Amino acid sequence: MNSFYKKDKWLIIEEGFHPEINRESESIFSIGNGYMGQRANFEEEYSGDSLLGNYIAGVYYPDKTRVGWWKNGYPEYFDKVLNAPKWIGIDISVNGESVDLAISRITSFTRTLNMKEGYLDRSFRVIVSGNKTLEINSRRFLSMSEPDIGIIRYSVKSVDFEGFVDFNLYIDADVRNEDANYGKKFWKEVQRKVTSGSGIIITRTMKTDFHVSAGICFEAFRNKQELSVKTALINREKYVGNTFGIKIKPEDNITIIKYAAVLSSLNNPEEVLMEDTTKRLKEAKSKGYDKLFSGHRYEWERIWAASDVVIKGDIAAQQAIRFNIFHLNQTYTGKDERLNIGPKGFTAEKYGGGTYWDTEAFALPFFLKTADQKAVRNLLLYRFRHLEKSIQNAGKLGFRDGAALYPMVTMNGEECHNEWEITFEEIHRNGAIAYAIHNYIRHTGDMDYLADYGLEILIGISRFWSQRSTWSESRKKFVILGVTGPNEYENNVNNNWYTNTIAVWTLSFTISSMETIKKENPDKFKRILGKTNFNYDEETNLWQKIIKNMYLPFDDERQVFLQQDGFLDKELMSAEMIPAGERPINQHWSWDRILRSCFIKQADVLHGLYIFEDKYDIETVRRNFDFYEPMTVHESSLSACIHAILASRIGNIKKAYELYLRSTRLDLDDYNHEVADGLHITSMAGTWLAIVEGFAGMKIHDSRILVDPLIPDVWDSYSFHARFRGILFEITVNHQNVIIKNLSDKTLRIIIYNKEYQIDGMEKCEIQRITK
Ligand code: BGC
Repeated sequence: MNSFYKKDKWLIIEEGFHPEINRESESIFSIGNGYMGQRANFEEEYSGDSLLGNYIAGVYYPDKTRVGWWKNGYPEYFDKVLNAPKWIGIDISVNGESVDLAISRITSFTRTLNMKEGYLDRSFRVIVSGNKTLEINSRRFLSMSEPDIGIIRYSVKSVDFEGFVDFNLYIDADVRNEDANYGKKFWKEVQRKVTSGSGIIITRTMKTDFHVSAGICFEAFRNKQELSVKTALINREKYVGNTFGIKIKPEDNITIIKYAAVLSSLNNPEEVLMEDTTKRLKEAKSKGYDKLFSGHRYEWERIWAASDVVIKGDIAAQQAIRFNIFHLNQTYTGKDERLNIGPKGFTAEKYGGGTYWDTEAFALPFFLKTADQKAVRNLLLYRFRHLEKSIQNAGKLGFRDGAALYPMVTMNGEECHNEWEITFEEIHRNGAIAYAIHNYIRHTGDMDYLADYGLEILIGISRFWSQRSTWSESRKKFVILGVTGPNEYENNVNNNWYTNTIAVWTLSFTISSMETIKKENPDKFKRILGKTNFNYDEETNLWQKIIKNMYLPFDDERQVFLQQDGFLDKELMSAEMIPAGERPINQHWSWDRILRSCFIKQADVLHGLYIFEDKYDIETVRRNFDFYEPMTVHESSLSACIHAILASRIGNIKKAYELYLRSTRLDLDDYNHEVADGLHITSMAGTWLAIVEGFAGMKIHDSRILVDPLIPDVWDSYSFHARFRGILFEITVNHQNVIIKNLSDKTLRIIIYNKEYQIDGMEKCEIQRITK
């Protein structure tokens, strides 16, 4: 665990330069605006260890897969979001000697992420020319209000140096992905232009042919007075630069404002990219730094007003939850239905920036309660756009008649994952997408979505479940064979309880959704039946049979659901028995040892008890929690948060808090030594859920919202915002009271500790907290 970063309510601070964790810090201090993201690489040349990362949402390359043993049905490509042309570059040198933090002598260094206003600051002092000192201060942000614009304010102040400082402001499009399977570069240059004061390079991705245009322009000031500088141009393949020297003396402060415009053929026709980029650069420069910054800051104010969590009495927890909310909002802003949320967001290359079930199971519930309805609808539309491909995907595996299997990992709807035990077997992901539709509708009441899009997805998924279920003559039950549940430390098992449960739930939900649309919107219903070629009686009769006769493994003696057939044959033991030096087991044990063991990577049965909480009583949850929690090693970042929620539900606040802590500072303290590979963006949403659905016990029953708040002993109070059916409200919990403020003008009805309250628009209600 590292604790390099100082604790602060709104800031993440790295004091002193730690090159040995530079990759980690580059992930932690990443900035993004939903449209693009940038690791905290330095502006200046850096010859030390670093992962260059600048990503544009939706721009990817299908990298040819490398697997040892090819299996029919494997995808040939793994789509990956690309490290895009580097526009942040500002090299500086003195007497031909570059400032390079890996080599230069630095006497101070601070890097600060301001989460409230969404920018990255860096400040350091460097020795140049033998024994003279320069002070460098930079601020960088990716505009939230104008997402194709990035800005750097870069100042060089002389403490006691007199002479020339040479600058090179450039774009370098000769970039690569570290994880390229065959070491290939993925960009081709299309066009470039460089003039005194600006430069633009248009590149295109091989195969996918996305055109990306990166443009820069700048202005320079000496002590706030604009400077006119004489530039020399660098103009070579995939590289444009403006170089110039400025003479400075002690106390002089030279400030460069570098504006960047990054456009892509996703939003601008490729023929006019050069023209549009030139225009956007001009617009940005004429607006100027201050105006752009205040527009950006305003957007962050808006985001925090709807999603902030305030924790009093625990600064580490306060910092961490804001860090998580901050990165989630940097990754996804919900404006474009073609974009989604990769498990690492824009913070590194791991997982290729693709979409996983993480979106529906973790990120979507966060955005449902903190963002505009449209942002969540767009996540669902994303999957609707991929329905056809999912039907083809199921077709490749031998399913037919409109059965849809959504991919485990995807960019464009096609499956990218290629480990048979996951690609073919981790089919529970289909259920998460169906459940997300239900979750969205119960939060928003948006029945149009169901009729226009959702029902078709549900039909495709239900057809898959009905074809994937097998009638077992010996059990006289339906079974689902050869699967991997959420717990990826078990492969090719039969009757994973969670998968079987979500399969029958999806079938029931699809039938009830059909009934609703049939009644409320007969014309649309007819259209859907026609479009999907749905044989109502035949198909729903089979579904009903499966619903009634699905085999769900259960142990009578312990009265717990069994993760899968044969689970009790294992030697059952607590994860505490694993020697500390052998954790995490996935880095120390052979795969076969892991598979034979009882140890559980992440919530599996417990994930089912979490989402279907209204179906199981507290005693059932407690028994299953007590059985499975000790065997769970939480080696997926998606695990501890779910266990934390259930621990709160059963009133075990101590355990809930312990699990919560593990999840909330996972990246800031680099618990799993993997932050260099990027942040756990989707699990960050789980942390938020651990507060809202865990400690505060927020649930929805029969279209009504209810809470059952607990509070960890070490906190004085916590408060958060949430939305339900268009109403934004704030809940504060302290040791004595629960206070609900209705921040909208509509009446909020809310059940607190089993009693219903009605809170008029802009009013608040305060009740006594009940201790369990
Ligand atoms: C987890 C999966 C998850 C993936 C991406 C894996 O380690 O087991 O459930 O979808 O990471 O976050």
